[in-house]
Amino acid sequence: MNAPILIAPSVLAADYGHIADEVAEAKTADLIHVDVMDGHFVPNISFGVDFLRTVKESTELPVDVHLMISNPDQKVESYLDAGADILTFHYEAATHAHRIVSVIHDRGAKASIALNPATPVSVLEPIIEDLDMVLIMTVDPGYGGQRFIESSLKKLRRLRRLCAEHGVNPRVEVDGGIVMGNVAQAVASGANVIVAGSSVFRAADRAVAIRELRRHAERGVSKMA
Ligand code: DX5
Ligand code: ZN
Repeated sequence: MNAPILIAPSVLAADYGHIADEVAEAKTADLIHVDVMDGHFVPNISFGVDFLRTVKESTELPVDVHLMISNPDQKVESYLDAGADILTFHYEAATHAHRIVSVIHDRGAKASIALNPATPVSVLEPIIEDLDMVLIMTVDPGYGGQRFIESSLKKLRRLRRLCAEHGVNPRVEVDGGIVMGNVAQAVASGANVIVAGSSVFRAADRAVAIRELRRHAERGVSKMA
């Protein structure tokens, strides 16, 4: 994960009936983002370990799994078994976050915590030094195609300060409502992993969408304050 900006198309917006073809069309991306929703932590239900296994078999890209589930403490192992390379769980759903991170690391995967828009970055203070990535939700999780919450930009800058105070530099992922028109601002505020569902899988040509998203995102790098 050395590229400055990583593009992570979310298969939530793909055609599940042709998932291998859909994932193949996104091969110029850097990661494949898989959204697991349980109908409890979030209102919607998406897919689980079997679907993840199929995605994993369909791509050579690292698979970035976003667990929007209650009680991730009891579920992370099965997602690691199914092939998660990066595993994100929600701060709001976890009981023992340090233990979950240890389990993920023991299995050789990258560990990441997601924060809902209403959760301040200060909650990460006791654990930030153990994380490979932080996921800043830029919509309330549960559905694709929602509108980007503007206050996320300020939150991204706060996260950058928190990381600097701790002398760490985890990847920072943004997820939700990312479009060509706001991706540079997200990057300028500190994001370097870009999740895009509708922007990629609802585009006529996925390769063009990925290329354009990357081009817009890279413009944000020079604007970093
Ligand atoms: C939302 C999911 C996102 C979703 C993003 O809860 O976590 O990953 O797929 O979709 P877009 O990019 O369409 O907002
Ligand atoms: Zn997601």
